[in-house]
Parts: sequence; structure tokens; C-alpha cells
Amino acid sequence: MTTDASTSPAARPSSLPVKPRIFSGIQPTGRPHLGNDLGAIRNYVALAERYEAIYCVVDYHALTHVHDPEMLRHQTLEMAAALIALGLDPKRCTLFVQSDRPEVTELCWLFNTVTPVGWLQRTPTYKEKRQNQPEDVNHGLLTYPVLQAADIVIYKASLVPVGRDQAAHLELSREIVRAFNARYGVTFPEPQPVYTDAPVVLGTDGVKKMSKSIGNTIEVLAEPDVIRKQVMSMVTDTQRILRSDPGRPQVCNVCRLHRHFGDDYEQIWEGERTARTGCVDTKKLLVERIIAHYAGARETYKELMADPARLRAILDEGAERIRPIAEATMAEVRERMGLR
Ligand code: TYM
Repeated sequence: MTTDASTSPAARPSSLPVKPRIFSGIQPTGRPHLGNDLGAIRNYVALAERYEAIYCVVDYHALTHVHDPEMLRHQTLEMAAALIALGLDPKRCTLFVQSDRPEVTELCWLFNTVTPVGWLQRTPTYKEKRQNQPEDVNHGLLTYPVLQAADIVIYKASLVPVGRDQAAHLELSREIVRAFNARYGVTFPEPQPVYTDAPVVLGTDGVKKMSKSIGNTIEVLAEPDVIRKQVMSMVTDTQRILRSDPGRPQVCNVCRLHRHFGDDYEQIWEGERTARTGCVDTKKLLVERIIAHYAGARETYKELMADPARLRAILDEGAERIRPIAEATMAEVRERMGLR
């Protein structure tokens, strides 16, 4: 964890948990990629040691672009299994599936009534998604950040481990909370992002953010051969043409990733700078390190996926554990808003 912030005492709602509560959500995109892990999941694990943590596989959000029911169900289980395999202990934190706690959709609707539509139209991710799926600009895409705000604050969470791509959504969550608190009295904390030391991981193209929708990912729990192919396809320093040319590790995505796998990245960078090592050598080393780093998680993931009943029981238990928090918040909100 590198960035930390908590609610200002002046705006502190009376029913906040004693310890800061952590919440984060992840889309059921199947197996996670390196960006998910280095940018967010590592912090889910670290923060669960110190705080009361709640993590959610956001299948409602996924419906804005996944329309195959079987695929959605399967990928939801895959992401839950992956989170456990990557270190989340369901005994020490709560892991659940978003649609198993449907109270959040009611809060989303209520938040819609305090959210000016202009805020949503200006959200960068909305503009991006309109371009990416022009044939399917559904209303869910517009209201996506409102559901995200509801996800977080229905549990009165104040810290949210995410990658930097979620900064605009978090800013909007704070604005929605402010708008609600101003109209109905201070009810919710303003959630703050918590970043890792790799808040933006670039994809194998070395230009765009690593993302499944772009197809530039390194899937950390995939079979070694898949990881090998993905890493070996990475774009390195584009100005280093000949093996004898000195490299610029500071602009090379492969070199940058070495910072997270081993404590000798300075030597690796030096090798590149002096052309002692070539890009292919540096990639091969990265492949082996990534495969080794995730070997244990890969086995745990396979075991979990072989026993879906056990996985579903863990997720059911998670959703049940937080039912009282969701219900208490909704009772408070209905009271404040004048609903029966
Ligand atoms: P999602 O599913 O796209 O990504 C899950 C988490 O991984 C981080 N991440 C990255 N970090 C660094 N570099 C990358 N290339 C990279 N790619 C992904 C994301 O920042 C995120 O933390 N809208 C959210 C899901 C969500 C949510 C929430 C998050 C729904 N409700 C409430 C926080 C709180 C999303 O689509 O994340």
C-alpha cells in the first residue's frame, strides 16, 4: 500500500465502523492479469491484514458488456477462485458476489436521483466505452459509476484499493456522497483510493493500460506456455534496434516489470543500459520469474475450480455475513429520504 487517506473528522457520519472499512470490486473477466494483481489485488491482500475488508466480484457491472449468462456465471467463479488463490483468505475478509446482495441496486437508484446526468456523461470511461461498443451504448454504461459508489458506501467503506484507472470513478463516488450528504444529512464517508507502487501497469504493447478488452494481457494464473507466449510478445525499448545498442530500461515495460519480481532489478537495468544483456534475455528472465512467482497460486486456483460447490459456499457465506450492514444502511437511507 502506498497511498492512504481517511475521512475528515468534520464530515464523519455517526454510524461509521470503528476501524476504517475497506471495499473493492473487480469485474468477472475470468482469470486476472498482471495489471489486476500488481495494481490492486496485492493491496486487497495487504489491507485485509490490517482492516475490516470486503471484496466483491461485480457481476451486475459486467452485464453492461457480457451478455452470455453461462459465461458470466463461469467467469464470476473464476475470478472468485483467483482472488483466493492470490492470497485472499475468506476467513479474514469478506468475499462475495455483487448480485448476492441486491440491496445495492436500490441504493444505486436512490443515488441516481442526486447525480446530475452531466457528471456521468463527462466520465472518461463512459466516453471510452461508447467508442468501444457503439452498437451497445446501454444505460448501464452511463450509470456504472453510480452503482460503483453504492457498492462502496452501502458498507460505509472509506478506503478503496484500486488501480489509477479507477481514479475518476472514485472522484465521482465522492461527489455523489457529497451531494447525498448535503441534501439528506451526513450519512456516508467520502471514499478514498489506495494505490500500490504499480498503479498503472502497461500491456504487452507497452503503450496502453493492460486490459482484457484490449487483449494485451499477461494472465498470471494461465499455464506456463501461455505466460511465456504473452511475455515474449512484449514490446521493449523501440529505439533499441541492434543487440549492441544500449537500452533505456526506464522506458522499457519489461524492465519496469522486473521491479516487482526479485530484488535485483538495478543490475538488470544496468545490463540493459550497457548492452551486456539483450531484450530477449531480459524477457526470458521475466517469464521464468512470473511463472515461478505464481506457481503456488496456479495450483490453488485449479483445486478451487475443481470444487465449485465449495467455492459457492464461501461466496454464499460472504454475502450472508454482510447482510446486516447492507440492511442497516438501507433502513437509514430510506428514513432520511422520506421513504416508508
Ligand atoms: P476492473 O475489473 O477493471 O479492475 C479490477 C482492479 O484492477 C485494477 N487494474 C489495474 N491496475 C493497474 N494497471 C492495470 N493495467 C489495471 N487493470 C486493472 C483496477 O484499477 C481495479 O482496481 N469499476 C471497477 C470495478 C468496481 C469497483 C467497485 C472497484 C465495481 N465497483 C467498487 C472499486 C470499488 C472495474 O471495472 O475494475
